[in-house]
Amino acid sequence: MAKNASKDKSVAKKPEAEAAAVVPAPAPARGMAIHIGISDKDRAAIAKGLSALLADTYTLYLTTHNFHWNVTGPMFNTLHTMFMGQYTELWNAVDPIAERIRALGHFAPGSYADFGKLTSLADVPHEPPKALEMVRILVAGHEAVARTARSLFPLADKASDEPTADLLTQRLTVHEQAAWMLRALLED
Ligand SMILES: [Fe+2]
Repeated sequence: MAKNASKDKSVAKKPEAEAAAVVPAPAPARGMAIHIGISDKDRAAIAKGLSALLADTYTLYLTTHNFHWNVTGPMFNTLHTMFMGQYTELWNAVDPIAERIRALGHFAPGSYADFGKLTSLADVPHEPPKALEMVRILVAGHEAVARTARSLFPLADKASDEPTADLLTQRLTVHEQAAWMLRALLED
């Protein structure tokens, strides 16, 4: 169990030095003041949390699409098709997350440099792993994104930010279901 936990950590988490790199705060948008009943401070903090969720989602999207291309072995057909469904869902999810950040009055990050600093996930391995290792990496990735989404809940609740809470609920449902389905592939 402990061995598995440390293995999961190695695929889901970036090295400490990398994680300690300066994480950019989302830039406030220009223009009129915003009066939607959420303070400037809370909107900035929620936008920051959503930026981390956006970076995690985009990184997991790219990893899943990479694995769709590079999976090999007797499970090719099953995994190639399953990964396609998952990367399509992740690709469609980045837009509502980014647009919620905009509605809260901040600019959405959208560069590899920013995503690299903001995400809690490791980058895709340069050499494609074996099929079941791909599945393990994706389980750890979905779990990591779920943790990022869940950690933002108390703040969205406190600020009565229902649209963000609703978005987080939807993302948690997807990531926890995907993690279960992928995990099931690893059982005998
Ligand atoms: Fe394809």
